[in-house]
Amino acid sequence: MSSMESLGDLMQDELKDIYDAEKQLTKALPKLAKKASNEDLRDALEQHLQETEGHVERLEQVFDQLGMPARGKRCEGMKHLIDEGNTMISDAEEEGTRDAVMIAAVQKTEHYEIASYGTLRTWANVLGKTEIAALLDETLEEEKEADRKLTAIAESFVNQEAADEGQGAAPTRGRRGTTGARQAAADRGRTGTRGRSR
Ligand SMILES: [Fe+2]
Ligand SMILES: [Fe+2]
Repeated sequence: MSSMESLGDLMQDELKDIYDAEKQLTKALPKLAKKASNEDLRDALEQHLQETEGHVERLEQVFDQLGMPARGKRCEGMKHLIDEGNTMISDAEEEGTRDAVMIAAVQKTEHYEIASYGTLRTWANVLGKTEIAALLDETLEEEKEADRKLTAIAESFVNQEAADEGQGAAPTRGRRGTTGARQAAADRGRTGTRGRSR
């Protein structure tokens, strides 16, 4: 097998992986949107659900151009990110904390997608499949924009709400989940501030 043939095989595998990941997200995002307390967050999740449905369709165009059936292969990475996010969200007892944790969980899924689409676009370009690369690039930009929007929402108030709820009430013994989530929210806030100052 030449190296170009093997890169083509890798690309097919990666396409099946991200196709399944996107389908998992079309099921997870509406459930998360229902749990979001903040209106901006709920809107962002609902908007990204629509975009995600578009990502599934765009991948179907890519499969079509490659003459492949549109069929996914179980994406364990996305499954674990979603499972972990759901556990953290159900451990969060206060609304603000839950929203902050939800943003963190969804951003992790965006970063997975950004890595996958970036890789796929590069491989498509290397293989001379420029139309496919252009389709992948459109999705990549939407993933980046969704990620930026979530950062903006987190910075504007969700992390502030989580921090406020953390004041006054000392962490109760036996509520490790909530305390951990609050810490995660606080960490995210610090990261955001540092990022902005650069
Ligand atoms: Fe997507
Ligand atoms: Fe996404």
